[in-house]
Amino acid sequence: MSKTLIPKITKAVFPVGGMGTRFLPATKAIPKEMLPVVDKPLIQYAVEEAYAAGIRQMIFVTGRHKRSIEDHFDTAYELEAELEGAHKQSLLDVVRSIKPEDMDCIFVRQPRALGLGHAVLCAENLVGNEPFAVLLADDLMVGSPPVLKQMIQSFSTAPGTVLAVQDVPREHTSRYGIVSVNNDQRSYAAVDAIVEKPAPQDAPSTLGVAGRYILSPSIFQSIRAQPRGVGGEIQLTDGIAGLIGHEPVYSLRYAGTRYDCGSKEGFLQATIDLALANPELAETVKSHMRAVLGL
Ligand code: G1P
Repeated sequence: MSKTLIPKITKAVFPVGGMGTRFLPATKAIPKEMLPVVDKPLIQYAVEEAYAAGIRQMIFVTGRHKRSIEDHFDTAYELEAELEGAHKQSLLDVVRSIKPEDMDCIFVRQPRALGLGHAVLCAENLVGNEPFAVLLADDLMVGSPPVLKQMIQSFSTAPGTVLAVQDVPREHTSRYGIVSVNNDQRSYAAVDAIVEKPAPQDAPSTLGVAGRYILSPSIFQSIRAQPRGVGGEIQLTDGIAGLIGHEPVYSLRYAGTRYDCGSKEGFLQATIDLALANPELAETVKSHMRAVLGL
């Protein structure tokens, strides 16, 4: 008997067209995705996660004022020549590793910020007719294996649309897409409903979607078929809701930590945790924290 062919996920879409108003004034001239946690911009963490999951084609859906993202993933000849001349090999390696030779970066514009679903639609021609990943750089995910890799592993056991989910406090349901699943005991479970940002009393569960998706190419048609959703935006969540009942949609309770770097609190937590996980910084940070806390 021939085994069903499981499609390979080869493309990742990064919607990076948002305004980042929550981080003003820092984001007046710098995209929020370029804000660094310790020493790497948020977008680089997301791209590295996709690369670690075997993806080599990175599609950025950008907007105005996002040139620095393109520059970040481009060759910096002058900088490289200078580092080479100064024999700073380890820094040269750091700079060159941002875009490994086998990785392609493609940029497409989202002409107007009409919502996450709209951003995904902007990548349609580049994605074509195959399942693909979407990563929201605001959500910095720390997991081993990396969270997107866990999702691809689950996808290869039962392909379909896959949403990374985590338990969230009920009072926070209005910050997330919330799913209900048919078997709450399983980490990889079929989704029977999804709602964008429900009020706590209306939420079907407390399983919140983190910013990692594997989407079936039918999502494009489904997004187009939905009316404007929450906040008057074209919502990805509504497009996913339109797939339920027609195609398999799964949620994966991933193993790992999500930092909501779209909020100042989450951004600071990520900065502290990643600094503590960095051997060059850990001791200094700990002794500083002890001093601040009077311990
Ligand atoms: C988006 C999605 C939401 C998801 C969240 C994860 O919302 O619309 O469903 O739960 O990302 O971070 P945003 O945070 O962009 O408002």
